[in-house]
Amino acid sequence: MRKDTGQIFRIEDYRPTPYAIEKVDLVFQLDPQATMVTARLAMRARAGTNPGTALVLDGDELTLISVKLDGAELEPSRYQVNSQRLELSNLLTGERFDLEIVTRIDPSANSTLMGLYRSRDVYCTQCEAEGFRRITYFLDRPDVLTVYTVRIEADQTSAPVLLSNGNLVETGELGSGRHFAVWHDPHPKPSYLFALVAGSLGLLRDSFVTVSGRSVDLGIYVEHGKEARAAYAMDALKRSMRWDEEVFGLEYDLDIFNIVAVSDFNMGAMENKGLNIFNDKYILADPDTATDADYANIEAIVAHEYFHNWTGNRITCRDWFQLCLKEGLTVFRDHEFSADERSRAVKRIAEVRALRAHQFPEDQGPLAHPVRPRRYREINNFYTATVYEKGSEVVRMIRTVLGQDDFDKGMRLYLDRHDGDAATIEDFIKAFEDASGKDLGQFALWYHQAGTPHLTVNAVHDAAARELRLEIEQSVPPTPSEARKRLMHIPLIVGLVGAQGTDMEASAIEGAEVVDGVIHIKKRKHVVRFKGISERPRISLNRGFSAPVTISMERDDDDLTFLARHDRDPFARWEALNALLTDAVKDAARQIRAQRQPAFEADLLSLVGELAMREDLEPAFRALALTLPSEADIAREMGSNIDPDAIHAARDMLSCQIGLANLEAFTGLYEAHSDGGAPFSPDAASAGRRALRNALLEHLSAATGDPSLAARQFAAATNMTDLAAALMQLAHRFPQAVEKLEALGTFEARFAGDPLVMDKWFAIQASTPGAGGVERVRDLMRHPGFALTNPNRVRSLVGTFATANQTGFHRADGAGYDFFAATVVEIDARNPQLAARLATAFRSWKALEPDRQKAARAALSGIARNANLSTDLRDIVERTLA
Ligand code: PHE
Ligand code: ZN
Repeated sequence: MRKDTGQIFRIEDYRPTPYAIEKVDLVFQLDPQATMVTARLAMRARAGTNPGTALVLDGDELTLISVKLDGAELEPSRYQVNSQRLELSNLLTGERFDLEIVTRIDPSANSTLMGLYRSRDVYCTQCEAEGFRRITYFLDRPDVLTVYTVRIEADQTSAPVLLSNGNLVETGELGSGRHFAVWHDPHPKPSYLFALVAGSLGLLRDSFVTVSGRSVDLGIYVEHGKEARAAYAMDALKRSMRWDEEVFGLEYDLDIFNIVAVSDFNMGAMENKGLNIFNDKYILADPDTATDADYANIEAIVAHEYFHNWTGNRITCRDWFQLCLKEGLTVFRDHEFSADERSRAVKRIAEVRALRAHQFPEDQGPLAHPVRPRRYREINNFYTATVYEKGSEVVRMIRTVLGQDDFDKGMRLYLDRHDGDAATIEDFIKAFEDASGKDLGQFALWYHQAGTPHLTVNAVHDAAARELRLEIEQSVPPTPSEARKRLMHIPLIVGLVGAQGTDMEASAIEGAEVVDGVIHIKKRKHVVRFKGISERPRISLNRGFSAPVTISMERDDDDLTFLARHDRDPFARWEALNALLTDAVKDAARQIRAQRQPAFEADLLSLVGELAMREDLEPAFRALALTLPSEADIAREMGSNIDPDAIHAARDMLSCQIGLANLEAFTGLYEAHSDGGAPFSPDAASAGRRALRNALLEHLSAATGDPSLAARQFAAATNMTDLAAALMQLAHRFPQAVEKLEALGTFEARFAGDPLVMDKWFAIQASTPGAGGVERVRDLMRHPGFALTNPNRVRSLVGTFATANQTGFHRADGAGYDFFAATVVEIDARNPQLAARLATAFRSWKALEPDRQKAARAALSGIARNANLSTDLRDIVERTLA
């Protein structure tokens, strides 16, 4: 493992390399334990580089075999080599020179899943961010773009498939059972987009004709026998390609587009040029094995990686500080795609729920950082919800601030101006400023300041003056190493809802710039006057979640109830209901902690019932209305002194009360939404009906305390969505019931041979509430289907326990923390990236009640005391503790 140097990388230290790589030829002689890599680099000194300037190439865990300069082998005295670099000083060559470097690597021993490794006997690579240096010595940074030719030699029987980026130019046999393939990628690219795959794989083929009439061969490579399970991913790929042409005017630029699904992968997927590599969880789907959520994820991630071809690959990042340049923008694009393919309203609500669940805690805790960070110790730790999800929200706000037309012009200018570049966030913003003629100087703070801005809003209606005054005050909380913040430019969409439930139109709005219904908050305090408002309106704030901020405003329950019923903005309608439900659980949790019996308003219980029954609303929205804020959501909204046991009990009671208050209606609705044996379709409308029914199942199970409805659904289910939902109710709600034991056993027997499905079985048990979680998870780690080496298994069991089992992980005696910390340290020894990501589960520890805080700190300190932690894990743990 790379040893921790403690070095901090700073954005202001950016310098271009003194040398460029004009082209690279790579030869891989693949062997499980001893792969030889020959790299021939055509080098050129950049203008201004002094003769003799050292060439410093990055490396990591490489065995150097030889170095040749312009054809002549170099004596070891001519270079310095250590585990991190190969340095050629006193380079007295011409402006151009050739280097040939031979290295040896051991893919079988590579447990980090970075560089060249083996996943179930398939050779595959992962190079983002700094994995290429584990393959050969190189200028392994995103601003060094070059043209790759790759020759792969391998054993013919174990590796009949040989893939790399770009176009296939030659194949042939080598004798003694070996063969080769040569790939050439004409598009200059940085090393992080390099990919190689070799192995025995099944193939699903298709083709796509681009808008200009070029035919592209599409291939999805999967484990043999699973080809049919790639059909949905293929369909999603073709829809993505069409959508990008139609919406962004972007056409694919090679003759081949391949995807490979592998079983061992640290992340979701990777956008390597022309050869995307995926975690197979985000490719494989059929009705028996994948839930509706799986289908939606597959569609979104296939689109995301494909969209990177332009936003990421054709235009890449100057350095890793600019990660959001490709990620925030590409997430925005995949969100828009899903919104167009499915329900825009439901998609938006899901996005906001995810942002609040993952990004808000990050922004409000010790790991907070700007969307465009200025320093890092380990770049792997910056693939975060802030860079991705908040980065996407920032792009969305650019559209809100400029309007669709100027946004489109800005995108066009950015793409034209920077095609082929390694660009920066400044370049990106400048394109929008130049295209629109508008100043985004203050707006740009969204990239540079960490923390979730907060708005305090106070509404005063003056009937005599026929005026509504909104006093809006902004503040940005301090975050690590940024105590003082500057004022932000916050685009806020506000609606005034009249007694009829329709929007009231102001005759004039003063006190802030208002363009097309968007209020531009730029000062600390605005008093916004809406003229010509004769009756008191209900205020619908931050419609569509126009800005990723938190808001406090006094609103009584009647107003929120009214908005939940009538607001024409579906997000705001859901938000109003969500606010009521969140407050109800928070209050109840406080009662429980004070040993008092909580009570819920009958109006709230019937409001939920009413929305669930409304035929004019789409089922997926009604399902969201029935979905209570999660225990983690409640904890986040409480902010401090958190007692997870009280929250769990309170939330459960509310579910029970909602079910009891609507028992008959819900039972009828549940029966009416049975699929009646109709064939499964993964489309959004069908998924919405299943979501509604499964949300009803939850409240009905809570209300009756009877496992039989869930048991019946489990027995009758004809798809994984209904089966897993039923199993979850049985496991979470009826720990003692025989139905639960039987269902877990049936599921296990049926899917023992299918690791991705067993992940659901592990996750359901890992998230089963109660103090027994620690022992249960520890036992399940000994299950034959579990493997500490596989990231999907680890995330399903250990990760789910820490992030989705509030009562288990946060067990009052600290046993959850101790078990988790020990497991993270064990994982760190082989896979630092995975360990570091798991450890972020501790990030909100300071919000816990004092006893749990103490226990969490002790567990974190225990991790930190290990001498041999990876840079990745040490970075997370030390920042979390600070
Ligand atoms: N760049 C990938 C994506 O967002 C994520 C990734 C990062 C994958 C690092 C692997 C390693 O699409
Ligand atoms: Zn991405």
